[in-house]
Amino acid sequence: MDPLVAAIDQGTSSTRFLVFNAKTAELMSQHQVEIKQSFPKEGWVEEDPKEIMQSIYECMERTCEKLRLLNIDISNIKALGVTNQRETTLVWDKETGEPLYNAIVWLDLRTQSTVESLINKSPGKSKNHLKHKTGLPISTYFSAVKLRWLLDNVEEVQQAVLSQRALFGTVDSWIIWCLTGGNNGGVHCTDVSNASRTMLFNIHSMDWDPELCRYFDVPMEVLPTVRSSSEIYGWMRSGSLAGVPISGCLGDQSAALVGQMCLREGQSKNTYGTGCFMLRNTGTKPMMSDHGLLTTVAYKLGKDEPACYALEGSVAIAGAVVCWLKDNLGIVQSSSEIEKLAAAAGTSHGCYFVPAFSGLYAPYWEPSARGIICGLTQFTNRNHLAFAALEAVCFQTREILDAMNQDSGVPLTELQVDGGMTSNRLLMQLQADILCIPVVRPTMSETTALGAAMAAGAAEGVGVWSLSPSHLPHVTSEKYEPQINPDESEFRYARWKKAVQRSMNWET
Ligand code: G3P
Repeated sequence: MDPLVAAIDQGTSSTRFLVFNAKTAELMSQHQVEIKQSFPKEGWVEEDPKEIMQSIYECMERTCEKLRLLNIDISNIKALGVTNQRETTLVWDKETGEPLYNAIVWLDLRTQSTVESLINKSPGKSKNHLKHKTGLPISTYFSAVKLRWLLDNVEEVQQAVLSQRALFGTVDSWIIWCLTGGNNGGVHCTDVSNASRTMLFNIHSMDWDPELCRYFDVPMEVLPTVRSSSEIYGWMRSGSLAGVPISGCLGDQSAALVGQMCLREGQSKNTYGTGCFMLRNTGTKPMMSDHGLLTTVAYKLGKDEPACYALEGSVAIAGAVVCWLKDNLGIVQSSSEIEKLAAAAGTSHGCYFVPAFSGLYAPYWEPSARGIICGLTQFTNRNHLAFAALEAVCFQTREILDAMNQDSGVPLTELQVDGGMTSNRLLMQLQADILCIPVVRPTMSETTALGAAMAAGAAEGVGVWSLSPSHLPHVTSEKYEPQINPDESEFRYARWKKAVQRSMNWET
């Protein structure tokens, strides 16, 4: 039997556990569990760290059961990779193993006033004041301001810091710490891709930056050790996979970049999850954006390998707009119904929906923007609204692609896509129409988990997966060609841009 490699994909909306064949990249089995998000106040988004871990244990055990039913021996699982929603911030007590507050999710807006005052105090009132070190604008999105909020507002966190019991981490750190023993010897680490989303990490020196920590007044002793994305961090302590090394760790967008085999400079992918994230591999040199994109550490595939960087366009709301139509308006019962509803209209009938529920991310970085729907008439119905929601995802991607083309000077000729929403064929066609370039979707959509499995399988001491270009698995894909006249596409895009301006100035 070929060696197998497992991956935990802990996303914003769900947790998955998947097992791949390390020789063929074939997906052998998987299990998925939804994750509850809570919205305790307007703009706040939290998740329960214990529920996150329970979902992982459940997915892991259910997948192992499924493998046994297929007569596949789970002792063939040689390594485990972790990939995760990024920026989401946790603090826990290393003595008791208890989380000291809920996880503050990346989308959370509670730090908006902190961000505004940091920007106002910075020279030239620039949100890019820390960009030379972090690659990031000052925004509610990243972990540092969330950690600052916890330090300022949660007594348990303050006490734990004083008594040196507090550990901070993004979701990857929490998972690895728990799986490697928790308060009984758990490993407190993160990888460079996740660290680069905290705003405390210097993307040039590849380490926590004392000056950034002073800026946010964060005690450095709570931070995890920064490791590469592919090395053995520790071993599973319990459950069916006890003894398996945990040897891959990548933020989910980095993992998707690897899983889409975008390992060469200039290669790009766009992942449609809760949000939507386009990354372009820029090789071993960080490229700074002049058009509102982030510079991020993409991966470092081995202790002695160089780090590779990416330009990233982050869109906060993609799949989340469909959830909003389902949960808040009730116009669909399940997310998959959206395609049928939108297809029934085949047009938004001049309706534009800017889902700026968490402000606007790239390329605007405007936390005070709010969602708007405009262009409504008596004729507009839920089908048009569904269509406008899907179109919004495509227009946001178009804005990112334009910025990326301008920054890199080399226009992309086709877009590789992945993520849950890509099973929506209407969305894929709309995306090709709005970008005016072909959109290519792999037939195996779990590329995020695949990337984490590849990193884990390739780690030194595991060595069951080769990342050399000649050994990368062949991926079959489906292509969507643009079908509308580019003039029509430009007309609709220009209207969208007007709607975006309104979403940023809706109060004035
Ligand atoms: O930066 C946030 C991102 O990592 C979340 O990804 O897949 O949960 O939308 P996803």
